Amino acid sequence: MQNTSLADQISAIQNEALAAFKAAKNSQELYDLKVKFLGKNGSFNAIMKEFGKAPASEKPKLGQLVNQAKTALESAYMTCETQLKSQEMSASIARESLDLTLPGTERTQGSLHPITLVIEEMVQILSRIGFSVRTGPLIESDRNNFEALNIPADHPSRDMQDTFYINPAYVLRTHTSPVQARTMESEKPPIRILAPGPVFRSDSDISHSPNFNQIEGLLVDEKVSMADLKGTISFFVKELFGTDTKVRFRPSFFPFTEPSAEVDCTCPICKGKGCRMCKSSGWIEIGGCGLIHPKVLSFCGIDAEKWQGYAFGFGIERIAIIKYGIDDIRLFSENDTRFLKQF
Ligand code: PHE
Repeated sequence: MQNTSLADQISAIQNEALAAFKAAKNSQELYDLKVKFLGKNGSFNAIMKEFGKAPASEKPKLGQLVNQAKTALESAYMTCETQLKSQEMSASIARESLDLTLPGTERTQGSLHPITLVIEEMVQILSRIGFSVRTGPLIESDRNNFEALNIPADHPSRDMQDTFYINPAYVLRTHTSPVQARTMESEKPPIRILAPGPVFRSDSDISHSPNFNQIEGLLVDEKVSMADLKGTISFFVKELFGTDTKVRFRPSFFPFTEPSAEVDCTCPICKGKGCRMCKSSGWIEIGGCGLIHPKVLSFCGIDAEKWQGYAFGFGIERIAIIKYGIDDIRLFSENDTRFLKQF
């Protein structure tokens, strides 16, 4: 192109580019052409390097020519692009047909955990006779978990084998009973509360899990007797397992209650005849209870001469196992959806 003038070169490139744009078969090819002609290393910029050699008088004219050519090409590019893109869109619509017979994506609905269901039912039953829910922290002070409940420092339940210690002053609560102390210290009697929630003990086999749930009951009032406690628990158990369920109280020991008892109910599965669930005894142990020890009332700032109370603590997994016929306590905390879906 040595002999050709710069102006001729510009119009030659412009024509070449126009023809190429029109011949482009798809938008990608068109884009590549745009880069080839108008891009940073494209034909037009190559020409601009020749610019310097042109006589000064011709430069404004040539500049104008270059700009006109570029503008014309930009608009040609846009026209071609619109055309190609709409062709491509129509082609893809024609190609991708919608299959209305394909099954939809299944939506799975969650369900409440069996432990949650049992807690809700128990709270519902006891709220009918005036109990309302309180909660406490899972990391609890040694003072609330043990000391306030008349559990001396050398008591076996403080043994490192049962208790998860965070440090010497804090533990993962081993029972829901510290909520007793918290409530008695922050509220004035009469008190009638429930405290459901997780507890922790260093223990694990088919019937023991290091984390399980309890529900605590606490009542403080004037003239409370063992008969009140037995009446409440009988009502509760009959509501939970059916009116034909019998309840039995066995003398027991807890440092924070006196007298203390263990609560058994007739096995709801075999109705007391003896089966695998109740290990052929006809009875199932569901928790402990007793009248609040005067030392505990005093420790929590309640006048033990004037007020008495009772407390109970039931294992929730145990109750869920009986209600739903589950044979391994670990299923509750494994989060296997095949198990959880069934409730
Ligand atoms: N906190 C006791 C336990 O975990 C149960 C209990 C609660 C006993 C309230 C008596 C009164 O074993």
